[in-house]
Amino acid sequence: MPPAAKPNGGAGPAVNGRAYPFEDHTFDVVVVGAGGAGLRAVVGCSEAGLKTACITKVFPTRSHTVAAQGGISAALGNMGEDDWRFHMYDTVKGSDWLGDQDAIEYLVRNAPAAVYELEHWGVPFSRTEEGKIYQRPFGGMTTHYGKGTAQRTCAAADRTGHAILHTLYGAALKAKAQFFIEYFAIDLMMDEEGACVGVIALKMDDGTLHRFRSHKTILATGGYGRAYFSATSAHTCTGDGNAMVLRAGLPLQDMEFVQFHPTGIYGAGCLITEGARGEGGYLTNSEGERFMERYAPSAKDLASRDVVSRSMTVEIREGRGVGKNKDHIYLHLDHLDPKILHERLPGISESAHIFAGVDLTKEPIPVLPTVHYNMGGIPTNFHGEVLTKIDGDPDAVVRGLMALGEAACVSVHGANRLGSNSLIDLVVFGRAAADRCAATMEPNASHRELPKGAADLAIGRLDHFRNAAGATPTAELRLSMQKVMQSNCAVFRTGEVLDEGKGLIHEVWSGSDDVGISDRSLVWNSDLIETMEFDNLISQAVVTMESAVNRQESRGAHAREDFPDRNDREWMKHTLSWADTDNRRVSIDYRPVHAYTLTNDIQYIEPKARVY
Ligand code: FUM
Repeated sequence: MPPAAKPNGGAGPAVNGRAYPFEDHTFDVVVVGAGGAGLRAVVGCSEAGLKTACITKVFPTRSHTVAAQGGISAALGNMGEDDWRFHMYDTVKGSDWLGDQDAIEYLVRNAPAAVYELEHWGVPFSRTEEGKIYQRPFGGMTTHYGKGTAQRTCAAADRTGHAILHTLYGAALKAKAQFFIEYFAIDLMMDEEGACVGVIALKMDDGTLHRFRSHKTILATGGYGRAYFSATSAHTCTGDGNAMVLRAGLPLQDMEFVQFHPTGIYGAGCLITEGARGEGGYLTNSEGERFMERYAPSAKDLASRDVVSRSMTVEIREGRGVGKNKDHIYLHLDHLDPKILHERLPGISESAHIFAGVDLTKEPIPVLPTVHYNMGGIPTNFHGEVLTKIDGDPDAVVRGLMALGEAACVSVHGANRLGSNSLIDLVVFGRAAADRCAATMEPNASHRELPKGAADLAIGRLDHFRNAAGATPTAELRLSMQKVMQSNCAVFRTGEVLDEGKGLIHEVWSGSDDVGISDRSLVWNSDLIETMEFDNLISQAVVTMESAVNRQESRGAHAREDFPDRNDREWMKHTLSWADTDNRRVSIDYRPVHAYTLTNDIQYIEPKARVY
């Protein structure tokens, strides 16, 4: 039975004869998610005097930002020449010209200030001899528009995300934000005019329901890597905000672009940072050959991730993989000074030992491309405001709703993200969203009455899964989904394999009508939470597959063997995908890429042929 209503609670709707009372909360801003983007927005909104809540399903310092290793990019020029224009060129090129150039300019121009802000708040960056922030080279980062190598990735050893997340949580506490920890956000509340008016969440430790009314709801709920079988993402990366957006009848953008990180540990999938190659590591095949020299003669092992992942896959396919089954590749760090490994890469030294049984001072690490990042997500402008396409307007702002970080598609990463551009995306746009709230809102402004039935979608969904009595356990459905995505929507794609994948993933989606859970309580019901997370994942898996079937070209992480070339004439446009979750149908439309810059300080960067 649900617990009794809290003092200020509403009666809540009776669903199938079961009453779900809820407790009400009213805030100026509610941020869902406590990773780097969410916390940066929380700090900014709180400092602006806005009454701000942060709802998070895990303790803040367990958010997936904690797992980011290699660093955060910013053209500081501490270890050689650099300029924000070079960073912009690399990001546009890395995105394979699908990134919005106004947003990219905003990102790279604001990056240095964002890193110095983190430094001043206490992030313990590694240091150069002169005491400046240490910067390492990362894939695709160059000087002079592709001519030299940039050392642009600011690092706290190989635990940069950990250092940033803890610092931001401290800053948010100092700013007196209110945290709702281990609350699972179920669904958005939308009004009759399509504006977001808040969110409904389940407090997992006592089963109470909470209705958060807010002028702005900011989704910073991360990616959905767990739609795949092997991912560097935490098990909590289920894209909950993305799925809420789909259920609210809004589109996701560019979902076909899923990044495989070249160096996940073979078998375990844990991340071995690109910083390992930045510090001098290199990949070899079964012949001991440094094969990246053939695929990317200039950038070699530090080509962008899509290029390295594809090259590794070709080596394995052509029989030059290593190991008993010739199904992986070696990453060598055994030639490097153990002192450097100890100082700069202590985290991966430990992971390689625990998950691969390897002493990386003496042996290579077995690695394989592993799902790492979703370039696609909730479309936004560079203020973090969610966009949709209405009446032909491709940039229509959805009132009351914002999105940040991996959940969002700003789009600065386009078809392929460069390593270390994710952490900087979190803090630059986390701050931009807070600035937008501060500029457009009055603290404690009055709220309109919530529309009748605002909570019905969320509570109906909760009740449905809580009482699901089908024959298929959630774990079985989840595994089927993960296997289909891993085999049919992988590094290389063909129309045939994707079409098969579309059929199979729709079968899993329809199969979820037969889901059954065994625990009917509301208190710490992990069966129920995992089922709602699966439901979130499957809608994103389906739009990912359908968007991939639809895009008939190769661009960034979307490599179609049947359409091997980038086709700017027909496909330099963002995919928008809607999911009709009741009728299990996907529809697709497009938004133009922002082919203009924010200022006249840099010209629009014209598409070029791919040379690495
Ligand atoms: O390889 C890494 O350290 C990952 C960095 C990133 O994805 O930005």
